[in-house]
Amino acid sequence: MRYGMGAEVLQDISFTLDPGSFHFLTGPSGAGKTSLLKLLYLAHRPSRGLVTMFGDDVTSAPRSALPRLRRRIGVVFQEYRLLDHMSAIDNVAMPLRIAGGADEAKIREHVEELLIWVGLKDRMHARPPTLSGGEKQRVAIARAVIAKPELLLADEPTGNVDPDMARRLMHLFVELNKLGTTTVVATHDLELVEEMGGAVMQLSAGGLTHSPASEGQIRNPHRPHKGLTP
Ligand SMILES: Nc1ncnc2c1ncn2[C@@H]1O[C@H](COP(=O)(O)OP(=O)(O)O)[C@@H](O)[C@H]1O
Ligand SMILES: [Mg+2]
Repeated sequence: MRYGMGAEVLQDISFTLDPGSFHFLTGPSGAGKTSLLKLLYLAHRPSRGLVTMFGDDVTSAPRSALPRLRRRIGVVFQEYRLLDHMSAIDNVAMPLRIAGGADEAKIREHVEELLIWVGLKDRMHARPPTLSGGEKQRVAIARAVIAKPELLLADEPTGNVDPDMARRLMHLFVELNKLGTTTVVATHDLELVEEMGGAVMQLSAGGLTHSPASEGQIRNPHRPHKGLTP
């Protein structure tokens, strides 16, 4: 992968994510974590090589095919990318409304339950410009997981919250993973990675130095729960 005519920022990387696996993506700032995630959420095409997603080659897929693929992917962007003119509730409800099929009362109930669980009970009606970095991060995470996507990509999703909230948010990812969502969490919080014990892909200088461990299973799930929100 390269940006424009620049040098390659990722090269000779080869890996497979088994359906339902959980992986951390680690590496120092500038190692290429965000760039690799861009290839996976189809925001960027590789300058050479192949990306296969849900069994299909997406490298040469027409642009018109991308929205349908993206709807199967939940993304937590490093810079959140919330819609500033909408409340936290409406931002989080978006994937459910786009998917269609659920009635509005159900959507509301589901969204409010999740926002309460991530500690935003009193901020549900606020618009993103009035939220703190950590609050925006939690809205972005709620939006990414609400529709139970097949693939979840999270870019430094706990970078702006305290350690207790980081654990709570990781728990959400683990619960989603248990429901079958293939999960990749980019982070440089090695303490959290060690504590959670998932498979680790380590990037350095544009290369992948550690391939995913065979199963990609979380070793140390926190409290077990049936649903996404207890
Ligand atoms: N939009 C961009 N245009 C040009 N170069 C970029 C852009 N985004 C990232 N880079 C470069 O790509 C490399 C990897 O960056 P990035 O993927 O953001 O790493 P990380 O997320 O691990 O911090 C860095 O050298 C960075 O400067
Ligand atoms: Mg990054």
